[in-house]
Amino acid sequence: MKYLEIDGVRVSAIGLGTWQFGSREWGYGDAYAAHQAPALVRRALELGVTLIDTAEMYAFGESERIVARGLAASGPDLAAGAFVATKLFPILPLPSIVATRAAGSRDRLEVAAIDLYQLHWPNPIVPARTQAAGLRRVLDAGIARHVGVSNYGLGRWRALEAALRRPIISNQVRFSLASPSPRWDLVPYAAERGRLVIAYSPLAQGLFAADDPAGRRSGIRRMNPLFRDAALHRARPLLAAVREIAAAHRATPAQVALAWVIAHPNTAAIPGARSLEQLEQNAAAADLVLTPDERVWLTGEAERFDAAQRL
Ligand SMILES: NC(=O)c1ccc[n+]([C@@H]2O[C@H](COP(=O)([O-])OP(=O)(O)OC[C@H]3O[C@@H](n4cnc5c(N)ncnc54)[C@H](OP(=O)(O)O)[C@@H]3O)[C@@H](O)[C@H]2O)c1
Repeated sequence: MKYLEIDGVRVSAIGLGTWQFGSREWGYGDAYAAHQAPALVRRALELGVTLIDTAEMYAFGESERIVARGLAASGPDLAAGAFVATKLFPILPLPSIVATRAAGSRDRLEVAAIDLYQLHWPNPIVPARTQAAGLRRVLDAGIARHVGVSNYGLGRWRALEAALRRPIISNQVRFSLASPSPRWDLVPYAAERGRLVIAYSPLAQGLFAADDPAGRRSGIRRMNPLFRDAALHRARPLLAAVREIAAAHRATPAQVALAWVIAHPNTAAIPGARSLEQLEQNAAAADLVLTPDERVWLTGEAERFDAAQRL
């Protein structure tokens, strides 16, 4: 496993996303939530995957509870190595509300302190200094050790950090071969300032995992524009490049997609997983090193696809 050291924090470059845990959107069912999901947490920790990402809004707190069950099932030694990140859904991020909600997440996760507490989305109505006051309260009360944001543009990230006057160590954003734009501004900023970009949907919700993406248009993917016919048509050269490079490395397309993301400086990826097999493949992607030529090829195809999608 590859690790990143950021501002005194050490996290695995491949993490585990847990939106799938207990949530109806993914439709993985009760047996997955009860048995598979906690087992995924344990297996992740065994494989050296330490970054585990959840949110209070995933299955209305149930994802956090399932992560707690997974940590408990892992035993104290493995669980001690986990770096648990969760998120506030910031409808009204006033200081007292932020602190109360953070304590709720901490209690559902059954941890002494949340390792990384993130604002899930920007709130354009509540002033940055008010939101910063909430995050300060969470840090000062020891409810969380570090704070981060999610879905923030660079300007908002910097403004909130200026208001907090402490590091906002991470920004969790959509980042994959199908959504490559963070490489233009957020990644260079993170590399320069010693911050972390956490790539969500790094497999584009399965686009890079399937031989037949159109056949996977169920659950959450029914709402994902990447799985519409026109987008799948535009993605053909990109998917062909991913598959050809995967074959050259005896790797899977998913592994190539993840290896491309985490080849960026100060960048970790948090793929979700349906099964232990997927998790194991994803963890192994940390050891897949793409050649410079392969990265240039993939980046070119990713940017051509992204530009076509925006037309
Ligand atoms: N901050 C935010 O706003 C935000 C938004 C979205 C997600 N997230 C976080 O990011 C995490 C990951 O994003 P995501 O779940 O949207 O998408 P993703 O990680 O790109 O895709 C996950 C899905 O891809 C498939 N998959 C995973 N590993 C695979 C493998 N090795 N081979 C083949 N298929 C594989 C599985 O679906 P199937 O088996 O069903 O095909 C899995 O559920 C979430 O769990 C969540 O923690 C955050």
